[in-house]
Amino acid sequence: MTPCPLTIDRIMTVMEAAFDPAYGEAWNRRQVNDALAMPSTHALVLNANGEPIEGSSHNGRDSIPAGFVLTRFAADEEELLLIAVAPEMRGRGLGEKLMQHFFDMAKSRGVNRIFLEMRRGNPAVHLYRKVGFEPIGQRPNYYRLSNGERIDAITFGRSL
Ligand SMILES: CC(C)(COP(=O)(O)OP(=O)(O)OC[C@H]1O[C@@H](n2cnc3c(N)ncnc32)[C@H](O)[C@@H]1OP(=O)(O)O)[C@@H](O)C(=O)NCCC(=O)NCCS
Repeated sequence: MTPCPLTIDRIMTVMEAAFDPAYGEAWNRRQVNDALAMPSTHALVLNANGEPIEGSSHNGRDSIPAGFVLTRFAADEEELLLIAVAPEMRGRGLGEKLMQHFFDMAKSRGVNRIFLEMRRGNPAVHLYRKVGFEPIGQRPNYYRLSNGERIDAITFGRSL
């Protein structure tokens, strides 16, 4: 399956602005393209009003990407791979809206358990806790930063 190039453009616009390079968490275009080429991977992009931007819509401001979520489905579980909101759009509930869309989409695929992994200390934990994720495990020293520092990965889960 060939992913929609416009969707990838929108994701990359947010990706390039949203992630702190110190942690190496942002994906490049190739990684996003390869992930979306798999039928198990899903993406959703929202505009500043929290509305999904789909396909080739060109409606001025309504088609400016403000946030996205990327997820991967396996059996009856779905993993949140990445979530991001453009820095100037944060703190307005878009992260929560992206999560709500993720929950709804996963439920519609028959999923009853969702999970995600984050580096210890990522402030995104406030959002994860707020929408009902609980820590379920950790991998000590899992991530390696460009300066050589190691950081634990924490796994969070939630039932739908
Ligand atoms: C994490 C992220 C998606 C949150 O997006 P957002 O649109 O600001 O989130 P919301 O406005 O929906 O916030 C939801 C709740 O989480 C809290 N929250 C979100 N980010 C927070 C932060 N950095 N520090 C403290 N609280 C935070 C909000 O205060 C809000 O709670 P409240 O309503 O009780 O105040 C955004 O900060 C981001 O893109 N970060 C960089 C990318 C990243 O690290 N993604 C996670 C790993 S893939």
